[in-house]
Parts: sequence; structure tokens; C-alpha cells
Amino acid sequence: MLRNWHLSKGDIHIWSFRRQPGAIASRQLKTWLSSDELERANRFVTQELQEGFMCSRAYLRAVLSKYLFVHPADVVFKLGLYGKPSIANEERLRFSFSHSGGMNLLAVSAHADLGVDVEKIRTVPNINEIALRVCQTDEAMALNSLADDQKQEAFFRLWTAKEAFVKATGQGLSRSFQSFSVPSFHFQNGCTAIIDEAGESSSGWRVHWLNTSGCYAAALAENLSDRPTISAFDWHIDDFQYADLDPHEQFLERAAVV
Ligand SMILES: CC(C)(COP(=O)(O)OP(=O)(O)OC[C@H]1O[C@@H](n2cnc3c(N)ncnc32)[C@H](O)[C@@H]1OP(=O)(O)O)[C@@H](O)C(=O)NCCC(=O)NCCS
Repeated sequence: MLRNWHLSKGDIHIWSFRRQPGAIASRQLKTWLSSDELERANRFVTQELQEGFMCSRAYLRAVLSKYLFVHPADVVFKLGLYGKPSIANEERLRFSFSHSGGMNLLAVSAHADLGVDVEKIRTVPNINEIALRVCQTDEAMALNSLADDQKQEAFFRLWTAKEAFVKATGQGLSRSFQSFSVPSFHFQNGCTAIIDEAGESSSGWRVHWLNTSGCYAAALAENLSDRPTISAFDWHIDDFQYADLDPHEQFLERAAVV
């Protein structure tokens, strides 16, 4: 499997990883987490949710650590005004993270802001009403014009596009989903659309629907001056062989492997 820890201007790497049952204990992943993350994990009511959160955070740290040439435990996050995490003391490496139904997606770039969102496609009752509440009229109409069997998937494609955009700007849910639209969205993997922020001078945000397995929708938002080169990679906890080595040395060694 090709893996690449080098980012050039215009590159965006998308990492997907799935939670692996038992990994938290067997790989001692808990030791990578900060006290804040452990506290947050403890607030989840079931062990499954706790482990899911810890696994996501450990995997996030593991992949980012490769780009930073540090041990996963030494990745330090800071939070923006609306909670967008970024890497403290390293402005160049930008990332966005999303998880749904056991699937984790991490988008990484050098210098460019970006947002990623993944959602497990599921049946949403009253989808027409929800669309009217969270979408602009033309988006809701486009959804409503679809046959029922296409509507659910299309809703999640639109939703992930909208979430990816508000995550890219860092505003999160403080930004109304009705304040912008995703025009001519095609509900297809591999398509790109330009975000329309009516009344604002063109901000140049693009959204790309990512290729995912059938039961997930995923989108990436970015505003690079030129179209980015998007590369996708899978990642697995067993890729990590760190136990017997000096962590720093080992990460440097593996970072050279392309
Ligand atoms: C960011 C947000 C859109 C996430 O959407 P989601 O589909 O529920 O969750 P996702 O898995 O896609 O994304 C979660 C990740 O987004 C990132 N994130 C959090 N706030 C973010 C923001 N303002 N901008 C960009 N990314 C953000 C974090 O990496 C988070 O990972 P974590 O759960 O491990 O901390 C949404 O939760 C949000 O706006 N949160 C901000 C806080 C807020 O308004 N809370 C309302 C509580 S009622």
C-alpha cells in the first residue's frame, strides 16, 4: 500500500481508518491521549462510546505524528474560537477530522484550510421537513424532486458538503446552513461544486464528494487557489510497530518510507 508522509503545496491527503475492537487495551493507545481527552472519554456513558472516542483520537494522533516526526503522545492540539482543533506550534500542517458509525476520516494539507465530513447513510424520517429547515429553498426542492430511494443518500451528500464547509471555515454549527448553498450538487462520488455564499464576494470554497463505500457519504471542502491533488490512503493500527524502538528514531525512519 502506497503511503506518503510528504505534503507539497496543493496536496491533500485523506486518511480513512476504522475502529478496531480491543485496540485500546492491546496497543495501550490510552497512554497516547492527553488528560483532557481522557476526561472527555470518561464523560461517555457506555464503554463502547468511550473506546470509540479514544480509538479515534489515538488514530488521529498516530497519523498526524507521522507528518510531524513526533510520538503520537507529543502531538499537541489547540482549539479555535468555535472549537476547531489545530496543531499547536505548527501552523503549516492543517487538518480536519470526522467520524461516523465506526469510520474515521482525516484530511491533511500544508498551509491550506480544509474541512471533511463523513456520515453513515441511514434512514431519516421526515426528510423533506428537515431539508426545508436546514437547506436553502433550491436545495430542498432539488432533494424533494428525487425518488424516495435516492433521497436519503442525496440528503447525506448535501449534508456532508455543508458540514465540510463549516468545518473548513472553523465556524462549525455556529454558521447557519441556510446562509450558503451547494449549487448543482450531483449526489455523486467524485463530483465537485463551488459553495455559493449569496451576498458575499466569492470566497472560492470548493466541495468534493469523496469516494467511499456504499453506506457512507463524505465530502471535503477547500479553497486552494488551484485545484488540489487529492490522494486517499487507508490506515490500520497494525501499521504501527513502535513498542521496541525509540519512538523518535522510529518515526523518522518510517517517515522516509513512501
Ligand atoms: C464541528 C461540528 C460541525 C462537528 O460535526 P459532527 O458531524 O457532529 O462530528 P464530526 O465527527 O464530523 O466532527 C467532529 C470533529 O470536528 C472537529 N471540530 C470540532 N469543532 C469544529 C469546528 N468548529 N470547526 C471544524 N472542526 C471542528 C473536531 O476534530 C471533532 O472531533 P472530536 O469529536 O474528536 O473532537 C459540530 O459538532 C460543531 O459545530 N461543534 C462546535 C461546537 C458546537 O457548536 N456544539 C454544539 C453543542 S450543542
